[in-house]
Amino acid sequence: MNPGPTAGGTAPAPGDAPVGFVPPPYPYSRLAAVAAVAERHDGGMVDLSIGTPCDPPPESVVAALASSGSERGYPSSAGSPGVRGAASRWIGRRFGVEIDETQIGLCVGTKEFVASTAWFLKLRSPRRDTVLAPAVAYPTYALGAQLAGCRMVAVPEAPGGGLDLGQVSEQDAGRAVVLWVNSPANPTGSLTDLGAAASWGRARGVPVLSDECYAEFTWDRWPPPTVLHHGTTGVVAVHSLSKRSNLAGLRVGFYAGDPDLVRFLSEVRQHAGLMVPGPVQAAAAVALDDDAHVFAQRERYLGRLERLAEVLRSAGLDATVPAGTFYLWVPVPDWAAEQGEAEGRDGAWPLADALAEVAGTLVSPGEFYGESGAGHVRIAVVQPDDRLALVGRRLAASTDPRLGAVRAP
Ligand SMILES: Cc1ncc(COP(=O)(O)O)c(C=O)c1O
Repeated sequence: MNPGPTAGGTAPAPGDAPVGFVPPPYPYSRLAAVAAVAERHDGGMVDLSIGTPCDPPPESVVAALASSGSERGYPSSAGSPGVRGAASRWIGRRFGVEIDETQIGLCVGTKEFVASTAWFLKLRSPRRDTVLAPAVAYPTYALGAQLAGCRMVAVPEAPGGGLDLGQVSEQDAGRAVVLWVNSPANPTGSLTDLGAAASWGRARGVPVLSDECYAEFTWDRWPPPTVLHHGTTGVVAVHSLSKRSNLAGLRVGFYAGDPDLVRFLSEVRQHAGLMVPGPVQAAAAVALDDDAHVFAQRERYLGRLERLAEVLRSAGLDATVPAGTFYLWVPVPDWAAEQGEAEGRDGAWPLADALAEVAGTLVSPGEFYGESGAGHVRIAVVQPDDRLALVGRRLAASTDPRLGAVRAP
């Protein structure tokens, strides 16, 4: 029944109810019941579900936050000469590539950039309506497509890891505002052939945005690959301070590459008020000029990956150190796949339940990263060593057949 006009104005008719975009549930809120089980352990839960750093950033970076004197004025959206210079120097040191400061712009953490850029690129090419992104991926690429009113076309993974761009139809390519690549990749840890992606995009007029936020944690190759090794035409590399410098709380990252794309994005971002606060820009400059803390962090993560993979292997899981990132991407064992099938859910959930019950450990089901991520869990080594050792002790003490199948006597 239409309630009709009221004294206070016109009541919304049923047809006025919002029918458009409804924000999806945040994936990690789906883990609440599993987390409650893990919490019951003496010593509490060891949360390996979200990639939030636990180690400290350098003190000099934190000190720079309080001493820049940049609080009063509006900051530049593209970034101060100080921070863009530091980003340019870091690109030179880490990748051996020269990128002018004018080809660099800041973002309010790379999640913001990933979520907003398809929208801006769609405004630039209104006849195109498609976002291409890896089938198993950080979910914000797909969310960015939704926010832009675009279709999302998932690019399947190649058999040896990386993207199988041969599977993208020319029709979809002709409609694409962006191809996202992510190397090393969350959640799989695999590397993508960035040169092939750059050539593919150039041949089709599709900007290639290369999310390289885990570049510092590349294990299989050093120096790490960047799309910028293959020229800047039509490509933009995206980097974060969150992982590199344990500064997820500051919200700062940057994008660098094609001069026209960077100019367009930094202009539209300035109009939209997407600005990194001045003190944060100052702190980011200090962090980018320092490599010592990154090399210490690399050792921490690699050690944790190696130790936790071994612990998980002795609990019957097929855990191996990835080519990059700080995630273990673990296939579900047969018992969990069978149980999941019987229960009408992916086998990652019974495995997550077992890890919570037996080891008080919270992990992420692979379906959080797209349908093709089913059959895996992602385990982030983002807890201090003593907490990971606790996981090992809990598993070693357990006689639960689900996670002790191949344990040495
Ligand atoms: C692939 C990928 N890109 C971007 C981000 C966002 O990082 P931030 O917004 O902290 O820079 C993450 C965070 O986990 C990620 O895994």
